[in-house]
Amino acid sequence: MTTQQPSMSWLLAGGAVAHDLLEALIASVGDAVYMVDPDGRVRFCNPAALRILGYDDPADLVGKPSHQTIHFQHRDGSHYPAEECPMLRPRATGETVRVELDWFTRRDGRMVPVAYSSAPLATDQGRGAVVVFRDVSERLASEETARREAEERARAEELDASRARILTAMDAERRRLGRDLHDGAQQRLLHVLLLLGDGRAALDGRGGDCNEILARATAEVRAAIDDVRALAAGIHPPILTTRGLGAAIESVTARVPVPVDLDIPPDRFAEPVEIAAYYVVSEALANATKHAVGASSIQVQLEHSPGTLLVRVRDDGPGGATVVPAHGLGGLMDRLAALGGTFAVDSPLGGGTTVLATLPLH
Ligand SMILES: Nc1ncnc2c1ncn2[C@@H]1O[C@H](COP(=O)(O)OP(=O)(O)O)[C@@H](O)[C@H]1O
Ligand SMILES: [Mg+2]
Repeated sequence: MTTQQPSMSWLLAGGAVAHDLLEALIASVGDAVYMVDPDGRVRFCNPAALRILGYDDPADLVGKPSHQTIHFQHRDGSHYPAEECPMLRPRATGETVRVELDWFTRRDGRMVPVAYSSAPLATDQGRGAVVVFRDVSERLASEETARREAEERARAEELDASRARILTAMDAERRRLGRDLHDGAQQRLLHVLLLLGDGRAALDGRGGDCNEILARATAEVRAAIDDVRALAAGIHPPILTTRGLGAAIESVTARVPVPVDLDIPPDRFAEPVEIAAYYVVSEALANATKHAVGASSIQVQLEHSPGTLLVRVRDDGPGGATVVPAHGLGGLMDRLAALGGTFAVDSPLGGGTTVLATLPLH
């Protein structure tokens, strides 16, 4: 003998049975359910809806206008006009509306993220709507975690890439220094060696004016010293260590043909911070000298606030500066990123150029 499941029509035909069954079902489902009448007032809500919305007693919600009670504000607290509410639309149009993310306001004022569907429901008084919704806090939290993890991964990858670029730039810089030493001081010292040979020959009476040869040798040694000094200053200006940022920056401005207005506090900072700030200013000043044709003034401003040193260099030249990897500004961007700071260049065409760096002080 086979047992047959009672059919749905049998249940519904059962009148009271069907009503009880529906009530039991709605009370026990995990999803929240409520119903609004043609006026938009809550006529019914199940325990899951009460729980999510923070009510203990259905009487506190039933009879209230649903939109004005739980849906009157956007996530940012701004007013949510009832005319724009998709949840109420089924009453007017007969359509069914689904929304994957919206925010309801709980009784305690907190907002809860929800996904809902709202379907039209014919009642004796006219068309109402039945709304089924779900608290999606957990989904949002896991989406937020995934987003943060992706952001952190991207940051770590960018940091790796910028470290690699710094290493490449350091190698290139070492090669440049080698070339400069070879072409500058080394050539001059070789020349001095030859002159000393000439001088000895002159002393031995083999020709040549000893005084003139010595004068040339002295000039070459002086030039070699200047070359080495300039190179060393480019690597790490000694004045930065002995007298600080203000004095070091002042010594750079001496080479700039445009008036430079300096606003630099006398404070001292950790060495990597002072070096980075110095490089930002010297690169920006070198750029203003080389590229900002027609600039009439330059402002250099350092601002020391708790935890941060801000460096700003502004010229009133033609603008149009671009940050290109492995060039001056691109190298600064990497240097600042490696120190946990920020670097930005604002250079609209015709609007001057502002280089802005912030350095964390820890
Ligand atoms: N202050 C400035 N005014 C106008 N253009 C600039 C300025 N600074 C930089 N630029 C432009 O941006 C480019 C990139 O600058 P940078 O990275 O310092 O490289 P480089 O100075 O070696 O050319 C420059 O070649 C120049 O065209
Ligand atoms: Mg440059």
